[in-house]
Amino acid sequence: MTDPQATPLSALGRRTHSHGRFRAEVQASAFRPPHPAPHHRFAGPARPAQAPRVVLGVSAYYHDACAALVVDGQVVAAVQEDRFSRKNHDAGFPAQAIAFCLQQAGLRLADVELVAFYEEPFLKADRLAQTARAAGAMSAATATDVARGVRRNVLLQEELRSALGEYAGPLCFVEHHVSHAASAFYASPFERAAGLVVDGVGEWATTTLLRAGPQGIELLEQVDYPHSLGLFYSAITAYLGFKINSDEYKVMALGAFSAPAYEAEVARLLRLHGDGSFSLDLERFSHHRDRKQAFHPALAELFGLPARAPGAALEHAHHGVAWAAQRRLEEAMQGLLRRLWARTEEPALVMAGGVALNSVANHVAFEATPFESLFVQPAATDAGGALGAALYAWHHVPEVRTRAPIPAPRFDPYLGPEYGPEVIEACLEEEGAEHRRCEGWPELYAAVAALLAEGKVVGWYQGRMEVGPRALGARSILATPCRAEMQTLVNEKIKFREGFRPFAPAVLADRAGELFELGKPACPLDYMLFVVPVRPEARDRIPAVVHADGTARPQRVYADTSPHFFGLIEAFDRLTGVPAVLNTSFNLAGEPIVCTPQDAFRTFMYSEMDALVMERFIVTKEAP
Ligand SMILES: [Fe+2]
Repeated sequence: MTDPQATPLSALGRRTHSHGRFRAEVQASAFRPPHPAPHHRFAGPARPAQAPRVVLGVSAYYHDACAALVVDGQVVAAVQEDRFSRKNHDAGFPAQAIAFCLQQAGLRLADVELVAFYEEPFLKADRLAQTARAAGAMSAATATDVARGVRRNVLLQEELRSALGEYAGPLCFVEHHVSHAASAFYASPFERAAGLVVDGVGEWATTTLLRAGPQGIELLEQVDYPHSLGLFYSAITAYLGFKINSDEYKVMALGAFSAPAYEAEVARLLRLHGDGSFSLDLERFSHHRDRKQAFHPALAELFGLPARAPGAALEHAHHGVAWAAQRRLEEAMQGLLRRLWARTEEPALVMAGGVALNSVANHVAFEATPFESLFVQPAATDAGGALGAALYAWHHVPEVRTRAPIPAPRFDPYLGPEYGPEVIEACLEEEGAEHRRCEGWPELYAAVAALLAEGKVVGWYQGRMEVGPRALGARSILATPCRAEMQTLVNEKIKFREGFRPFAPAVLADRAGELFELGKPACPLDYMLFVVPVRPEARDRIPAVVHADGTARPQRVYADTSPHFFGLIEAFDRLTGVPAVLNTSFNLAGEPIVCTPQDAFRTFMYSEMDALVMERFIVTKEAP
């Protein structure tokens, strides 16, 4: 095993950072105490003297740019910029998303009292500079890249202000993991909770343990860059020929197809220290020395297997590497949750950060620890940072104030735009689409359920769009889960993506126990972020949504938050006796989820979907 302190590269783990702490004992434990509060910084003209009513949250300039608007403590709108710009994971400034949020609330930019940004750019610049210093020799291209990154972050305040145009109020920079933590806690139904944030990296922290309650959000300890579970998983993702910050869940899915393999190799890459902390064998990673290189050649040497070229055939060995990386991540998450439980003993747990999208690790770690209930923010990636920054600022500025009342027992993710029947009809007329409109909703449910039962694939477009990467019945592609062949058909003919990718079932909330082993009663199944075993006797009933290892990633559907989706699944149950449908996001591979009726119609026409249902309109490719 390589000693992480024996090489110049690992000296990074012993650098001081901007708060003057000596970052020692990497080998014994990678946990650090967080720097003292506050975890936000104001940039003029003046800091707010009074608690703001209207806060705009922004995430931008990295990936998944997003805007969220909080009014009186409630998130009234949130949407990723890529839904409008159609650039997947758009990294720009979310101008269209901001315009939508304001329009939705009937407000103007001048009405916003505070803009909260999802990270602290000075700390990020500090990390970039120190990383470069620790890396030592670097290519001119890398040096230029680092210089550009430092400069941009130092000047980000000006860039943001100029992008915001007429807004002249204060800016509040909220630390990245605090934004993630707030996105989970303040959207959860819990009065108090333990919290875990895990992602690639924000400023310095890559993993944060915290506690939240009436006192606000209190950070307990953190693991700092360059040791990162998210970057570990991203390196494996790139090595296996997939796209980082995008395709990590393919690795998770691929892992289910292998017998145990490469355990010793992966244990060398990601060391678990027994106290919940972890460290990477930095010699085999490149994120801390060359930001343009997604993984280091020493990673391939370790596995004795060349990196897979994107699109090349998936060999047995690739499945094995994915299996080992996924199991190791699960072990690491268990260690973190054990540590968090020991420190807090809070029965409720909240999670966010890109790694919290790993629904398999969520399940394994939650079931193995004493936590009783869990909420994972559906917008767990950096898009959710916009929600979190706004919620944090509302609750913590100028001082911690009483939590806003929770309006519903469940967080409502339907925070995006909605287009009414007139707009949909105008779009269909303009496109010359074959369509008819059902008289009432029950008629629509029955007609669509019949199409699904016949084996047709249906685009389902209803109401306000979901925030976050999962389609939850507002912008979904649906099919019957009862025919095994639907999995291949939807992957290859509809979404044009790899055949191994599993699909998730959407199930009537009160019937979920009939099909799935639910584990702890408060397990989180409402947003497709948690994997559970399919009951052995149910596997033949829903073969298209059972993964190779006998699990599924269900979404419980409720009549109050998704009335039309619920109505449709009820109708499907009446026809087939199965209270679930196959649900996948309404997009093609590599594209953002559809937003407007035009996006939906074009995606429908481009793929081999059989029907498109928008509001009560049914669109087909031939005369109805
Ligand atoms: Fe993040």
